[in-house]
Amino acid sequence: MTASVKAVLAAAEVPIEWEERKAGAEVFKKGVASGVLPETVDSIRKTGVALKGPLETPVGFGEKSANVTLRKYFETYGNIRPVREIPGIRTPYSGRGIDFIVVRENIEDLYAGIEHMQTPGVAQALKIISRKGSERIIRLAFELARAEGRKTVHCATKANILKFTEGLFKRVFEEVAKDYPDLRAEHMIVDNCAHQMVMRPEQFDVIVMTNMNGDILSDLASALIGGLGFAPSANLGDGAAIFEAVHGSAPQIAGKDIANPTALLSSSVLMLRHLGELKAADLVENALLVTLEDGKALTTDIAGPSGVGTKAYTKEVIKNLGRAPKSYPKRDYKRLKMPSISSDFAKVAKRRTVGVDVFVESLDDPAKLGPMVENAVAGLPVKLAQISNRGAKVYPNTLGIEPDPSDCLRLRFKGAKAGDPVKDSTIVEILTRVAGVAAWVHVEKLSEYDGVLAFTKDQGED
Ligand code: IPM
Ligand code: MN
Repeated sequence: MTASVKAVLAAAEVPIEWEERKAGAEVFKKGVASGVLPETVDSIRKTGVALKGPLETPVGFGEKSANVTLRKYFETYGNIRPVREIPGIRTPYSGRGIDFIVVRENIEDLYAGIEHMQTPGVAQALKIISRKGSERIIRLAFELARAEGRKTVHCATKANILKFTEGLFKRVFEEVAKDYPDLRAEHMIVDNCAHQMVMRPEQFDVIVMTNMNGDILSDLASALIGGLGFAPSANLGDGAAIFEAVHGSAPQIAGKDIANPTALLSSSVLMLRHLGELKAADLVENALLVTLEDGKALTTDIAGPSGVGTKAYTKEVIKNLGRAPKSYPKRDYKRLKMPSISSDFAKVAKRRTVGVDVFVESLDDPAKLGPMVENAVAGLPVKLAQISNRGAKVYPNTLGIEPDPSDCLRLRFKGAKAGDPVKDSTIVEILTRVAGVAAWVHVEKLSEYDGVLAFTKDQGED
C-alpha cells in the first residue's frame, strides 16, 4: 500500500524524500518489545511527519499495539477521521451528501491500557480523562471546523452515566465553545449519536469524542460511505503527525497485489494538506475520486472478480492525475492551526479528604462482613458508611439487593461525623485493621475540591 502511495505522489511530482522505517510484526519478531525500532522513532522525531502502512501486532509478541505505541510516543492526541460520500461508491446512503469528520481523542481514556485483575474474579480498567487532554482535542475540533469552513461542532459523550470522565469532557466542550462564537456547538449523548449517524448522518459536520467512543463510531461512520477500505485518518500532535488508514492490517494478503490502497491514498491527501501542499492534495484527491467514479479499474474488494490488482489500480489513479470528478463540490481548505491551551491543570483552592474507599477480596456475605469491619475499625474517627458491589450498596442492605457472588467488595469509610476530614494516618490505620478481616486490593481517597464532591455516590447512597 505504501508503494502505491509513493508511486502516485511521485507521479504528481510532490517533492518528498522518503525515509523508510520499520514497525509492527517484523520488529516484534526481532524481539523489540514495543514493535517500533529506535530509528523509526528518530526519523519521525526529525521529520515530524509519517505515512504509516497498516501494522500488525502479532498475538504472543509484545503486550501493546505498535499503532497505539506510536500515537503515545509522539503524543498525537488528535485523530482526525473524515467521512465523505465518494462518487461511484454505491451505498444505501448515496446521494445524501454525507460529509463530516470524527475527531477522536487519541491518547487517553481506556486506551491508557491501565488494567488490573483486582481479585481473581474481577477485572478493572481505568478510564483516564484529563482536563488538559480534553481541552486540546476539543480546541482542535473547533480549529478544524474553522479551517474547513464548517458550521457545527458536535460533542458526543456518555456524560449522563460517567459524570466525572465523560462529564469532564462535556464540561470542557461547553467552556471551549464560548471561544468559537462563529460555530454552532451541540452536545449529544453518544448512543444517540450512533443512532443519529445511521438515521440522519447528513446533519453532522465535526463530531468530537473521547478515544473509545471515537474508535467505535469512526468504524460505524466509515460504513456509511462504503466501509473501512475508504476511511483515511490523521494522528496529529504538536511535534509529529502520522497518517494512516483507519483499517487494520491483513497480513495474509500482504505482497499479493490484491489490497485496496484507497484509504492510505486518501490519508496521504490529508498529509499533503498538513504539509501545506494544498494544490498537490487536490490533484491526488481528484485523481483518486475520478478513478472511483469511472469504476474502470477497481480492486476486487469493490469490483468483485472483474477487478484489478493494487498495481493496476495505482496506474489508473496516476493516469487520472489532472482530471476532476463530476460530482464532488470543492471545499476550500485552509491550513489547520494546532491549538495552544492555557490551563494544563485545573486549579483548586481548598481540598479535603472526606473518606476512603477500600476494595477488598471477600466471599463473605456483606451482612456478615459489615459488622466484622465495623468491629475492626472501632475507636478510629471514621465510620463504615457502606459496602458496595459493582457500584450498588449491599450493606446496610436498605435496597434489598441479594448478596452478589463477585469476590470484590468496596468498603466506603467516611469521617465519624458527616463532612469530617479523614487524615492520612487514619487511612493507614484503617488498612492495617481491615487486613485482619479481608485482603484489601485497592484504595481510593474520597476528596472534596472547593467544597464539591470529587467522587461518585453509589446507587442507593445518600
Ligand atoms: C484504529 C484501530 C486501532 C485502535 C487498533 C489497531 C489499535 O482500531 O485505529 O481505530 O483501536 O485505535
Ligand atoms: Mn478502530
